[in-house]
Amino acid sequence: PKATKAKIVKLEPLRGQRVRVSGWIHRLRIQQELTFIVLRDGTGYLQAVLTGQLTKTYDAKTLELEAAVELTGTLQVVPEGKTAPGGHELTVDFWRTLGSAPGAEDAFSNRLNEQSDPSIMADLRHLVLRGETASGVLRLRAALLSAFRTTYEAHNVLEVTPPCLVQTSVEGGATLFQLPYYGQEAYLTQSSQLYLETCLPSLGDVFCVQESFRAENSHTRRHLSEYTHLEAELAFITFNDLMSHIEAVICETVDKLLANPIAASIIQQLNPGFKAPARPFKRMAYAEAINWLNEHGIKHEAEDAGGNVIKDEQGNAKMVEHAIGDDIAEAAERQMTDIIGTPIFLYGFPAELKAFYMKKMPREKGATGPIFTESCDLLMPNVGEIVGGSMRIADMEELFEGYKREGIDPKPYYWYTDQRKYGTCEHGGYGLGVERFLAWLANRYTVRECTLYPRWPGRATP
Ligand code: 4AD
Ligand code: MG
Repeated sequence: PKATKAKIVKLEPLRGQRVRVSGWIHRLRIQQELTFIVLRDGTGYLQAVLTGQLTKTYDAKTLELEAAVELTGTLQVVPEGKTAPGGHELTVDFWRTLGSAPGAEDAFSNRLNEQSDPSIMADLRHLVLRGETASGVLRLRAALLSAFRTTYEAHNVLEVTPPCLVQTSVEGGATLFQLPYYGQEAYLTQSSQLYLETCLPSLGDVFCVQESFRAENSHTRRHLSEYTHLEAELAFITFNDLMSHIEAVICETVDKLLANPIAASIIQQLNPGFKAPARPFKRMAYAEAINWLNEHGIKHEAEDAGGNVIKDEQGNAKMVEHAIGDDIAEAAERQMTDIIGTPIFLYGFPAELKAFYMKKMPREKGATGPIFTESCDLLMPNVGEIVGGSMRIADMEELFEGYKREGIDPKPYYWYTDQRKYGTCEHGGYGLGVERFLAWLANRYTVRECTLYPRWPGRATP
């Protein structure tokens, strides 16, 4: 009978029938008159068996790992006691090689394993991607982005696509990638926030999934030079609304993933024991966090007035207690999240530590010390900060003070300022690092595993 061409994920209803499947040889076991293949086509894995003459044709030697092949045969339910992906197996009656793969055995099995040098793994990322873990992470990433989009739709938040090429900075000049632009200077965007703010009076609440770029010389588990930034901006809200919204979007998105059989099984494989986080998330004011760190003996490196780490004679950094006004560094933040073990909203950072656009908290009468902002970071166990958000300055005078404090020339920001001139409103938003979120969800050691081709200082290949 004529064979039905199908993708592996669609095979189940075709059991008992003749089917034709194309893919790559993921696993191969050659015995005397029996060859077992696990075929991979991106949608799933299929076990196939070749017997007798089929294993002895002149081109049988092209049956090798990673060769592209077309297999035709009858799809049979595997007998009880035997297991196969999907619960069925292809008894092949005809096959052909579409693309041979000489030397793949060596390239894949010997070079790409857990012990491989990370720089080799990075150079061979295009081959690593064919593995079950890397492709599982990327498949989960696709499901995640799709679930976020569905969640935003339910909240009436509209998707827009802001530009990557910009002439203003959002998060400070220190991490901007500059490039010549038709005789002018332009940058790769650090955040689409300012553009999202301009969309509010036009489209209402908006979000985007856009690449952001950070020229940070950070070689850490959670920093990329280019990352996928999910950002949203909401009008007519309070700071409390903002945090509740972030919590709702994250929890609803995780629920959707767990209800999706493919995504749920990948989470189960990569992060067994994963449970959706309980609501509401713990909220901790910045000043409380400083106390918490000191109570738990978590110190930070002392710096001199110039921002250089102070070292003793042995060259060890001098460690000191945290004080109000200090930045909470990555190491301290991670220790705190790991000890507490649940998501934490850290909120109310001092204005001095934060960007020019953040709304200030009202000051209590007679209060001294730093001015705090309506800002929040969401910290997750194992990763630390995955979301940064804030209420934005709605008042024009206050915005000009912010420009001044950060040494920003207001001129190129005229369009951002206009937002306060024509129908200003209380509003706020946030940015979520997609790779960091995925690292949390899939329990990956580094964000470098959570994007197709990661970029970090010195690497833009492949
Ligand atoms: O905290 P950030 O810098 O905040 C902003 O850019 C705001 N303008 C966003 C907004 O309010 N619309 O970045 C937001 C998030 C971080 O919490 C982190 O998850 C991620 O972006 N992120 C990075 N992810 C990977 N590599 C980097 N170098 C990152 N820098 C920030
Ligand atoms: Mg941040």
